[in-house]
Amino acid sequence: MRKNILSKLVAFTGVVAVASTLGCLGGGGGGGGGNPSNPSNPSNPSNPSNPSNPSNPSNPSNPTNPSNPTNPTQPTGPTEDPNLAARVIDYSQALRTAALKLTGALPTMAEINGVTDAATYSAQIDKYLADPRFASQVRMYFRDMMKMGGSLQVNANNQMVTVSLDTAPTFAARLVVDGKPMTDLFTATANTCPTLNEATGAFTDGTCAGQTNPVGVLNDPGAMAHMYSNMAFRRVRWLQETFVCTKFPAEYSATPVAMGAGQYVSPWPFTSITGGTDATVAPINFHDTSSVVCANCHSTMNHIAPLFANFDVAGRLQTTIQVKTPTPTNPTTKLTDWLPAGQTTAWRFNKPAATLTDLGAAMAADPDTASCQVARAWNWAMGKTDIVNDLAVVPTMVIDSLVQQYKAGGYKLKPTLKAIFTSDDFVKF
Ligand code: HEC
Repeated sequence: MRKNILSKLVAFTGVVAVASTLGCLGGGGGGGGGNPSNPSNPSNPSNPSNPSNPSNPSNPSNPTNPSNPTNPTQPTGPTEDPNLAARVIDYSQALRTAALKLTGALPTMAEINGVTDAATYSAQIDKYLADPRFASQVRMYFRDMMKMGGSLQVNANNQMVTVSLDTAPTFAARLVVDGKPMTDLFTATANTCPTLNEATGAFTDGTCAGQTNPVGVLNDPGAMAHMYSNMAFRRVRWLQETFVCTKFPAEYSATPVAMGAGQYVSPWPFTSITGGTDATVAPINFHDTSSVVCANCHSTMNHIAPLFANFDVAGRLQTTIQVKTPTPTNPTTKLTDWLPAGQTTAWRFNKPAATLTDLGAAMAADPDTASCQVARAWNWAMGKTDIVNDLAVVPTMVIDSLVQQYKAGGYKLKPTLKAIFTSDDFVKF
């Protein structure tokens, strides 16, 4: 059952509203810290630095904690589901769900009657994956995943501009239908804004309006406009949550250090991002540890955000920085607001990325972006909700072999979908 896009958009932007009122997750500090409902109060359960908060990186039940067995990036785990043996195969039941997901309609009587065993069921799944209706279905899947769709009206310098929010989901859908590697999401250099004829399921080449050098969907005008925010952090969050399947913090050192109200868990040197109490040097103090350890998330985020800074509110690349720093005069962000002199942009610690193209290459090579695609496809088939918002994480044991096949097969999603829709987990009830 596909979740309504709108409800997710609300869920997504709901957090944003909190972040911006508080200068993000307790950044406001100041008065009211003792109020139990104040998110910056360390004893408030929603405070990320509260040890009993499931989003606290050091909490073992936190799905992003590398030691949590359900963490999608967790390297080890049991290899067999003990409950599966007790379930029985029901191809007609499986066919019903498969038809609804893959074509948007119930199976016909002829389809139902034609499926009697593993071979006929498998052949019918192939037909659904080749059905013209599959293109629209898979585009809806990517609209949900990217939290985009339709179009957006923005006011750019007193001019109303309409931006399509469908180009990135359509591009992703085409990769699946045409059997292209999903890593093209981060690396493709042409035709990243195709169009889809829903009736025929055929895609037509297309370039993104006003764009010269596409880098997959990373500089998709719709995504850039939709995720416009102070210091470009929402664009960075979108990349992380959509394509890595976890919230920030994204990086964990083997040796966390106790600091202020919590622990510094990131592998980056603490001072590799801007901070300190001199507002002329650091308008935002990312070294603050008094309520939350900002640098747990921002050590990664501040090394990525400058790469997205020059896209304006309508998603168009400009020659100068287009985002603002949320201080009283709301000035245009300077590079030194994110990073001190000498620091350069990167996807992760020790994974430098001087340009958006480098960032895309690093993302394509990151095993977490591969397992994220497979885990999301799995959740779609199994009718689970959003892997990030609803913590519908997939245990590694369940998808490990699928991830291996996906990588070995060249990052193509259609064979992965075939494997999922014919897996014992899908056909046994
Ligand atoms: C758990 C991870 C995390 C921690 C800890 C964290 N941030 Fe953030 N921060 C984010 C994310 C994610 C966003 C983007 C939110 C969005 O726009 O959707 C953000 C956005 C921001 C913004 C821009 C807000 C706006 O107006 O759009 C500022 C400024 C900021 N953070 C500063 C801080 C400071 C200062 C601290 C420490 C007191 C801190 N953050 C702690 C993850 C974090």
